[in-house]
Amino acid sequence: MKKVIVTGGAGYIGSHTAVELAKAGFLPVVVENFVISERGIIDRMRKLIGSTFPVHEVDCTDERAFDSVLEKESHVFGLIHFAAFKAVGSSVKDPLSYYANNVGSLVSVLRSMLKAGISSFVFSSSATVYGQPDSLPVTERSPIKAAEAPYGRTKQICEAMIDDLVASWAQLRSVTLRYFNPIGAHPSGQIGELPLGNPENLVPYITQTAVGLHPQLTVFGNDYPTPDSTCIRDYIHVVDLARAHVSALNCSPLNHAWRSTKCSTSAPGVGPAYWKPSPHLIPPRGFRSTIASVNEDRVMLLQATRTFPRRSGSWATCRN
Ligand SMILES: NC(=O)c1ccc[n+]([C@@H]2O[C@H](COP(=O)([O-])OP(=O)(O)OC[C@H]3O[C@@H](n4cnc5c(N)ncnc54)[C@H](O)[C@@H]3O)[C@@H](O)[C@H]2O)c1
Repeated sequence: MKKVIVTGGAGYIGSHTAVELAKAGFLPVVVENFVISERGIIDRMRKLIGSTFPVHEVDCTDERAFDSVLEKESHVFGLIHFAAFKAVGSSVKDPLSYYANNVGSLVSVLRSMLKAGISSFVFSSSATVYGQPDSLPVTERSPIKAAEAPYGRTKQICEAMIDDLVASWAQLRSVTLRYFNPIGAHPSGQIGELPLGNPENLVPYITQTAVGLHPQLTVFGNDYPTPDSTCIRDYIHVVDLARAHVSALNCSPLNHAWRSTKCSTSAPGVGPAYWKPSPHLIPPRGFRSTIASVNEDRVMLLQATRTFPRRSGSWATCRN
C-alpha cells in the first residue's frame, strides 16, 4: 500500500483527506501535534477506515523529529501538508506565532522531504493569497495582491518558498491548492469540524450558537455594496475538497505540467453565501445574531472558479 504522510491529519480537512486517501487505496500516515484537534478523532477515523494507520505525535516545526518519522516510515509515496494555524483574526493579534508555525513547519517538512527523497507534494494554501481581487471569480491566473492579514501573508510566503524549491530540485512535483471556506462533514457524522477552543470559522460558530455555547452570532459588516450588504464567500464541501487532495497527489508525479501547479478549488455549486437568513430557514429558538463593524478579514467578495482541475479532467465537485 502506498504511504502518504498527512501533516495536521487530525484536523478538519486533514482527517477527511486521510479517510479519502484510505478509500483510494493509500495508507495515510498522520503527523500531528494535537494543538487544535482532539486525540479522540483518530479512533473515529480508524473506525471509518476500517483498519489502523500510523499516527506520530510530532510538531512539524521540529525538523529532527520529522526526520525520525520519515526514517521510521520508509517508502513514502507523497506528502500532503495541512499543519498550520488558520484563523485570520488571531493572525492579526499574534502574527509571530503564525509565521513561526506556518512558515516554520513548511521549511522543516520540505527539508526532511528533500533528505528522504520524497518528491510528490501537495500544499494546502488558501484563496486569501488573492487579497482583494480586481475581478471575480478568481482563477489560477489571477494576480496575487497584498494579503489582508498575516495569515494570508504566511501562505504567500509558503507558495514562494515552494516555487523556489521546485526551481532548484528537478524531481519535485508540487501541487498547491488555494481554497477557502470548506464546510460540512463526512456523511457518517463521525468526523466534522471540531476545533478546540472558540472557532473563528463561520459554520462551527453558527452550530455552536444554535446549541447555546455562544450567546449570539456576530456578522461583521453590513455596509458592503452587495445584495444583502454583508460580505460574500464561496463554500466547498469538505469531502469534495478531501478528494481534490487525493487527485492532486495522483496527478503530481505523472505530469510535467503539474510540476508546480496552483489550483483554485472552489465550488460555485455550493456558494456564494450571503448572510441574509432564508425565509425557508427557521432559526432555533433563542438564536440571536448581531452586526458588528468589519473585522480583520476585510475582503468583501471572494469567489473562485476551478477551471484548471476541471479542464484537466482530474477532479470535479459533486456535493452542494
Ligand atoms: N478551514 C479553512 O477554512 C481553510 C481554508 C483555506 C485553507 N486552509 C488550510 O488548510 C489547512 C488545514 O486547515 P483545517 O481547517 O483542517 O485546520 P485545523 O486547525 O482543523 O487543522 C490543522 C491541524 O494541524 C495541526 N497542527 C497545527 N500546527 C501543527 C504543527 N506545527 N505540527 C503538527 N500539527 C500541527 C492542528 O493540531 C490541527 O489538527 C491549513 O493549512 C489551513 O491554512 C483552511
